[in-house]
Amino acid sequence: MGNENGKQHILIASAWPYANGSLHLGHIASLIGADVLARYHRLKGDRVLFVSGSDCYGTPIVIESIKQNVSPASIADRYHKEFKKTLVDDIGFTFDLYTKTTTPEHAEVVQEIFLELYNKKHVYTKVGKALYSPFLNRFLPDRFVEGECPHCGYDSARGDQCDECGALLDPLSLRGPRVNANMLNTDASVSDAALEVRESEHFYLKLSAFQEDLERWVESVGGAWSVNAAQFTKSFLKQGMQDRAITRDTDWGVSVPLEGYDSKRLYVWFDAVLGYLSASRHWARMSGDADAWRAWWQSSDAKHYYVHGKDNVPFHTLVLPVVFMALGNLHLPDRVFASEYLTLEGKQFSTSRSWAVWIPDFLQHFDSELLRYFFTAQGPETSDIDFRWSKFGELVNGELIGTFGNLVNRICAFVEKEFPDGVSTHTDLDASSKQLLAAAEQTFESVGVFIEKGKFRQAFRDILRIAELSNQFAHTKEPWKTAERTPQQAQTDLLVLLHVIRSLSVLIQPFLPKTSQKIQSFFTAESIIASEHGVGESSAWRYRTPPSHYKISGVQVLFKKVEERDTEEQYKKLAILP
Ligand code: MF3
Ligand code: ZN
Repeated sequence: MGNENGKQHILIASAWPYANGSLHLGHIASLIGADVLARYHRLKGDRVLFVSGSDCYGTPIVIESIKQNVSPASIADRYHKEFKKTLVDDIGFTFDLYTKTTTPEHAEVVQEIFLELYNKKHVYTKVGKALYSPFLNRFLPDRFVEGECPHCGYDSARGDQCDECGALLDPLSLRGPRVNANMLNTDASVSDAALEVRESEHFYLKLSAFQEDLERWVESVGGAWSVNAAQFTKSFLKQGMQDRAITRDTDWGVSVPLEGYDSKRLYVWFDAVLGYLSASRHWARMSGDADAWRAWWQSSDAKHYYVHGKDNVPFHTLVLPVVFMALGNLHLPDRVFASEYLTLEGKQFSTSRSWAVWIPDFLQHFDSELLRYFFTAQGPETSDIDFRWSKFGELVNGELIGTFGNLVNRICAFVEKEFPDGVSTHTDLDASSKQLLAAAEQTFESVGVFIEKGKFRQAFRDILRIAELSNQFAHTKEPWKTAERTPQQAQTDLLVLLHVIRSLSVLIQPFLPKTSQKIQSFFTAESIIASEHGVGESSAWRYRTPPSHYKISGVQVLFKKVEERDTEEQYKKLAILP
């Protein structure tokens, strides 16, 4: 199928944050890899479709609306607007579409799929038991309930999932279930009020019927996932898939497209994971070709990346694939990258206790590039990471500025000042120059491989290594000393360094797009044009042969140092001392 010049159709599917409060560092930690992937694949020349949106239904939004005494819709809309600004305008996420789950386009796709599953008997109704609060006069949504996890014994497991062991739960399986009073604007004594088990009819997805299909599929593709995603998924499969209700007794959600179910809605996780598909179709419609989504979802050359936090794993690796398998004609996830957890100064993030660093606030004090740097180069990719302001300052100043920023600024500023007409190669390249250039060239390959494997930290290490080698090269050659005595040698050495810096500006583009652009702006157009061959080439992710001349102008400092008073201010906000 349509595979032009080996270019692939790449879908990047990043998790949809709940629109119930501002985004914090933990959100960026689990999502930023998606933008790195999107930018990288575009540079490579692939056809990228990058979609996400705000998760507007579900209990988290209802809870916030009760707290603030406004409608769930107004909460969701407010945070959706804020998310879009934060992610797209402020941090530079390059979504092709960032939408929300409350659009008619989303409901249409979700209802269509629900009906197809129902008609094909992959979804059936069953009268089940649910927890009911006589005091609140309502069935309790999963997240309103907490109790002891039947798997690991954690005593504050939520009705839908245990945060400790990750197990998906049925609220009825909790030992000693109680109302999570934290989540309601009512007297804490509600949590002690006796809960009843009442009967309610719901729609169930036949997950159990797909046990073997899932096992076979995970066996064949799971090797390319992050270790935690594969492990979690396999351990769920070991426990055996059980059918799960995909409707709830609530009035906030996508409605059930069948007569007689007015008091029920589709479960938030069922509608949300279908957002990737509905957003792709929505994007296609807006692009003017309503069928354009098929090239990503129904063609054999497509590759799908899913990027989210580890608590999202089973929904993306089991529930969503079952829906797609049941429908039979949609591309399954290829690579699933799940991040580990982020803690803040040794403690779990907590919105209710205000133990968080909110992104809008962060961005008032620090450049978004520092955020992107930290969570790609130092993020919770393979193990939990504790965010500490002191460490943040150290790393930004030490490796981002000390190793990378200083190299670029020192060399570029020196050339601009001492060689206003630019530098040219006058002598043959010596062994150390050739070695450095070869290392830079090789890095395009290694960084690309790491990014495609979701190993963003290692990709960044490789980039920094080139900066380190360049610093060593500059240290040995000392062009600032030789500029007087042997200016021709100095020019050749500087040209080598400038070429590596220019290569670095491409290598860091997926990670630090504004920095990349800044560096590229130091190279005057004339010297760039002189070194460009093959205009119209399909890939910008490649090493270019060094030209014989570079001219530099308009050099500006890349990053502002994180000062002690900056971090002290943040510590004060958290009311702890460094
Ligand atoms: N809203 C969920 C969360 O924040 C993530 C939903 S991802 C989706 O954990 F794909 F299902 F939308
Ligand atoms: Zn547990």
